[in-house]
Amino acid sequence: MRGTRYRGDERHLPATAQISKSPRAAKPGGHDEPLETTAPGTVEVVRSRVALKRATDRCRECPIGEHATQAVCGEGPRKALVMLVGEQPGDQEDLAGKPFVGPAGHLLDRALAQLGIGRDKVFVSNAVKHFKFELRGKRRIHKTPTQREITACSHWLEDEIAMVQPQLLVALGATAARSLLGKAVPVMANRGQILQREDGRKVLITLHPSALLRVPPPDRDNAYREWLHDLSRINPH
Ligand code: URA
Repeated sequence: MRGTRYRGDERHLPATAQISKSPRAAKPGGHDEPLETTAPGTVEVVRSRVALKRATDRCRECPIGEHATQAVCGEGPRKALVMLVGEQPGDQEDLAGKPFVGPAGHLLDRALAQLGIGRDKVFVSNAVKHFKFELRGKRRIHKTPTQREITACSHWLEDEIAMVQPQLLVALGATAARSLLGKAVPVMANRGQILQREDGRKVLITLHPSALLRVPPPDRDNAYREWLHDLSRINPH
């Protein structure tokens, strides 16, 4: 269940995920700007992007992190109004340490550009912070994260949401929808719709760009147009 780690507003991180009690001095307006305070007597919470990266790199709450190169956290403006959430980093993202830089990311960039939305205007992240794969020869083949792994990772995504405070979350596919809404959401039945979370945040449901890349060419253009239609509900300003 989403948020099992939270007691009220106090986030209790497991020992492996705790971070320094004296984080680096923050640069005002910089990426390591402190974003929230820690209530007295509670375990340190993640309060900057740098701290989040450090903590997720170390995270071993599920087995995925052991095999990945690094954690891949979200990127984008600190005050982005829109946060797009994918499933997990792929092979290229795992190596680069950046979300959506491979083929799915290129398709996402193309769609955003067609809608007049600069990628630099939105925050782009993933439900799961490490790349899950199986080795076939030398190739690392993507494996879908389990429900348990999605749940274990959800508090990191929630930290990002708490930092950025977006007005609209965009669930790209079923894993993101499950993480953001805390339950299974049939994507095809809900695509293009904006659902509401218990905390009031709005979640636009749509397909993951990788799903579009798997559509056979005769149907791909149409599938892409429908996806653009879903995404046209985004207003980053
Ligand atoms: N797929 C995702 O869900 N996220 C990425 O960052 C890349 C591919």
